[in-house]
Amino acid sequence: MGATEADWAELRAVADEAATHAYAPYSKYRVGAAARVSDGRVVAGCNVENAAYGVTLCAECGLVSDLHLGGGGRLTHFVCVNGDGDVIMPCGRCRQLLFENGGPELLVWTVSGIRTMAEVLPDAFGPEDLA
Ligand code: THU
Repeated sequence: MGATEADWAELRAVADEAATHAYAPYSKYRVGAAARVSDGRVVAGCNVENAAYGVTLCAECGLVSDLHLGGGGRLTHFVCVNGDGDVIMPCGRCRQLLFENGGPELLVWTVSGIRTMAEVLPDAFGPEDLA
């Protein structure tokens, strides 16, 4: 399913809004993530930090939970932003989360434009390796 510029802009607006809900008292770095799902719905998440810093949940963790809570499906388009509204890259761990739920064809709005998940996480370890 192709996405127009307006579709991407809408997704980015959802990510911007999600970032306003971040709980980031330690880093003060808000993150919002949004994705389109194969059935057309939109899922989102924000980062949630913890006094035990390593327990922090990235925005993508919340987004993946939202995906499954709402009935599952596959992620088709994804973007994450910081609190200033800049597009940022998902961290390494979250690239793995996105790969699991969107596969190599998931389209990701990156700092260097729209890329496939296969480009963002090349030669990924994934579900096929356990088949
Ligand atoms: N963060 C995310 O939410 N997603 C990412 O992909 C990168 C990092 C959050 C975690 C932490 O709350 C803050 O950004 C600073 O690392």
